[in-house]
Amino acid sequence: MTKPPVGGNRTGRKLGQKVKKGKLKASSRRWLERHINDPYVQRAKLEGYRARAAFKLLEIDEKHQILKGAKRIIDLGAAPGSWSQIAAKVTDSTDEDVRVAAIDFLEMAPLPGVHILQLDFLDPEAPAKLMEAIGGAPNVVLSDMAAPTTGHQKTDHLRTMHLCEVAAHFAVEVLAEGGHFLAKTFQGGTERELLAMLKQNFRQVIHIKPASSRAESVEMFLLAKGFKGRKKEEAQEDEAAA
Ligand SMILES: C[S@@+](CC[C@H](N)C(=O)[O-])C[C@H]1O[C@@H](n2cnc3c(N)ncnc32)[C@H](O)[C@@H]1O
Repeated sequence: MTKPPVGGNRTGRKLGQKVKKGKLKASSRRWLERHINDPYVQRAKLEGYRARAAFKLLEIDEKHQILKGAKRIIDLGAAPGSWSQIAAKVTDSTDEDVRVAAIDFLEMAPLPGVHILQLDFLDPEAPAKLMEAIGGAPNVVLSDMAAPTTGHQKTDHLRTMHLCEVAAHFAVEVLAEGGHFLAKTFQGGTERELLAMLKQNFRQVIHIKPASSRAESVEMFLLAKGFKGRKKEEAQEDEAAA
């Protein structure tokens, strides 16, 4: 069970540490203090995950069972790679038989069993390259993509919402029947049209705020479970075009 970390000094490091006043700006010092005192950051280090984000996926999966039995997974906005680490494990992906494709425009250190594309997901070639990398329909499409912050909150939200929307349309185009789509969104940010499209294509659509997502963050996750599948004619068209 994914329990929230308590105490937090299993890494040997105490919580409640202060960063000395010095060259850092006050805002950077506050960020650094919060980071080093975050029990999920410490637990990620202890358990060998590249990011605390791992616990958001594990927590969601524990409750909603989206990874169980998945044969292929696509991870959008994957760097530094903790979701890909989990995806590679659940799919038994290896370098000889790659079942996980990850994309990020940032560089990501190699991971066994994960085909990494360093590319903007909005690049028109990205969808085909992702599909080529895993050679079959994914059972799960994950998106933790967040647009780089500009300092203008509304602009940042709109950009991330746009990424969520493009990811949702991609998921509907590529998922295997019965598959799931999980994406980062913002509180109150999911467009009505996007929700309607997802409800039409999936058996269940819900919003989730995992305990490991910082309470002060407006981040939420949108989970669309049980893809109903594309209509037969569409599937045949896809096959003919392949
Ligand atoms: C919160 S991080 C992902 C953390 C990741 N889930 C993990 O577990 O390590 C969000 C990532 O989305 C990426 N991203 C944002 N926009 C993107 C885009 N258009 N194409 C590809 N990656 C993008 C960012 O570069 C960033 O690395």
